[in-house]
Amino acid sequence: MQITKTEFVKSSANLNQCPKPDKPEYAFIGRSNVGKSSLINALTGNKSLAKISSTPGKTQLINHFLIHDEWYMVDLPGLGYAKISKTQRKKWEKMIYDYFLRRLNLLNTFLLVDSRHEPQKIDLDLMAWFGSNQLPFSIVFTKSDKMKPAALKANIEAYKKRLLEDWEELPELFITSAEKKTGLKEIKEFISKTNGIFHFNKL
Ligand code: GTP
Ligand code: MG
Repeated sequence: MQITKTEFVKSSANLNQCPKPDKPEYAFIGRSNVGKSSLINALTGNKSLAKISSTPGKTQLINHFLIHDEWYMVDLPGLGYAKISKTQRKKWEKMIYDYFLRRLNLLNTFLLVDSRHEPQKIDLDLMAWFGSNQLPFSIVFTKSDKMKPAALKANIEAYKKRLLEDWEELPELFITSAEKKTGLKEIKEFISKTNGIFHFNKL
């Protein structure tokens, strides 16, 4: 799938403000600075679609982008951003959990993790929460360009091993670099396939 038409729809402070849930939707979540906004821009080939910043905490609202007038990509605020107040964090968490639980057209969430890091508790906890709420998710390893191939491979293998301690089956995994534009085709193919299922179910 080649993405040629993208449109920023709106930023919402809560679920009620989100666009009508009448199109397939895919969310991008992960720790602050992991590269969510960069990945959305790389996938769409539109550098200025989602706001990117080297300062964590840039994305603060639920941002909807409409692709080909057919489906949504959603850029969510970063998890675990240390420099916000406890009250602000509680507010974000409520907004995000509410969104996941009640967004009826959400077909999959891409949980982004930095390919250089070991599995982080905050990510493993979120996966467990997705699991207990039967919410589908995939894992996207980001910034793979920052590692040598052998070290990258070793890290991914170690990550999978850790996942298999909690899960019987591995979720779908994607290895990406927004910088080098790798791993993007696979994500778009996954989305394209999932969109097909959505249309089929609606009939
Ligand atoms: P928040 O909105 O703050 O939660 O961050 P985010 O997850 O949206 O991260 P963002 O896309 O803003 O990227 C954070 C930083 O990482 C920026 O400086 C990006 O240029 C850099 N970055 C993102 N993806 C990649 C990548 O694949 N490779 C490299 N080398 N840098 C990347
Ligand atoms: Mg962002």
